[in-house]
Amino acid sequence: MARASSTYVCSTCGGESARWAGQCPGCGEWNTLVEESRRRSSGGKRGAGRLLRPVLLKDVVSDEHARLGTGIGELDRVLGGGIVPGSLVLIGGAPGIGKSTLTTMVLANLAAAGRQTLYVSAEESAAQVRLRAERLRAGTPLAVPVVAETELEGVSATLERERPDVCVIDSVQALRSSDLQSAAGSVSQVREVIGEVMRVAKARSTAVLLVGHVTKDGALAGPIALEHMVDCVLQFEGERERTYRTVRAVKNRFGSVEEAGVFEMRDHGLVEVLDASARFVGEATLGPGSVVVCAMEGSRPLLVEVQALVSRSEVVPPRRVVSGIDRNRLALVLAVLARHAGIGLGAADVFVNVVGGVRVDEPGADLAVALAVAGAAKGARLGGDSRPLACFGELGLTGELRTVAHGDRRIAEATRFGLEPVLSPESHRTLRDAIGAALGRREAAIAA
Ligand code: TYD
Ligand code: MG
Repeated sequence: MARASSTYVCSTCGGESARWAGQCPGCGEWNTLVEESRRRSSGGKRGAGRLLRPVLLKDVVSDEHARLGTGIGELDRVLGGGIVPGSLVLIGGAPGIGKSTLTTMVLANLAAAGRQTLYVSAEESAAQVRLRAERLRAGTPLAVPVVAETELEGVSATLERERPDVCVIDSVQALRSSDLQSAAGSVSQVREVIGEVMRVAKARSTAVLLVGHVTKDGALAGPIALEHMVDCVLQFEGERERTYRTVRAVKNRFGSVEEAGVFEMRDHGLVEVLDASARFVGEATLGPGSVVVCAMEGSRPLLVEVQALVSRSEVVPPRRVVSGIDRNRLALVLAVLARHAGIGLGAADVFVNVVGGVRVDEPGADLAVALAVAGAAKGARLGGDSRPLACFGELGLTGELRTVAHGDRRIAEATRFGLEPVLSPESHRTLRDAIGAALGRREAAIAA
């Protein structure tokens, strides 16, 4: 019967239902069930399974020692020390951010180190992949074998035969199984692609770097289940027009999810930015509305400039434009500024930007945002003539400064660049005190 081969798949959670419903029974989202029909027979009753032999954990052989270095230190650190053989790593990021560049560089380095590699391009022709590879200053890019193919079955058979140590699939959303009728990139296709790639990868001990697209709000396109299926999920962030990019792990079965690496896109590929703080402090503008936040990027302190602009608004409601921080966090900072520091900006447009395309998604950035906005509102420069003001701390709803993790390491990093004294919850109790000190210090500096 034809109807029996149809199922309804939720485009949010990937859950399957036998019949259509307005609300997904799995996750409760509305209007997310999409019909999927399978040509493949489901086979009826399950056959008898193969008998398995349990092994004591102490006798299980660990691949830990066999990690493959990518030749890119920042990436290896984010991965937890290199690529684990047979693992699946999903690399998500907006178009143009550099996913194909990074993965090609990884294979170029591995090829130079004598590893078997394979680049599966489902989006670009082999000639386009070659053009990119020719630009790169990394390993031996032209020694990387490439196939340009969009059909999953062909890719899977090729992987079985070639047995590379590391394979790149660019991208998950562009591959499609001919067993399914839905379009490439649909929930069921993506799930099928990952499932099949995972099967081959584990069986052949091939590590796979899967390139994935992200939606406008930064989430990986496809079912949420996708992130559960892979071993690591790396997010590639930054703005296409700017040169700095960060790679961070949002899931890592073999390492910490705290680490982040900073890169810069150059003419010949991505270059690691080894002392990002020095870059960002050196480039800080020192104008009104500029401060430096002592942030934490994973286990590393990072000094980065936060800029604010405040101007009389022509629109209702006024504009709140952010880049590099969370919009809701700005709303909180503005409310605290109005209520507890006497700086009301209800009729002003407020723009906040973390320089270099870096994201500082942590409460420790609150004080920096507040001081940048306060400085911009008052037209006052907060730092010295040659050095920016450095600060960090979380804002509480009653206007108090709250301590955040790694205060000592943040201060140590600022000290390394001569940016003390640092305004922080350790030095001041309330936002009002901190603003007073920032403005007062500037006046004292001018008077001296
Ligand atoms: P790409 O890796 O193709 O991005 P993605 O796969 O994430 O869509 O690279 C994106 C941009 O980077 C592209 O606009 C060109 C630029 N680029 C450089 O600036 N230098 C380089 O060496 C390369 C290869 C690309
Ligand atoms: Mg690409």
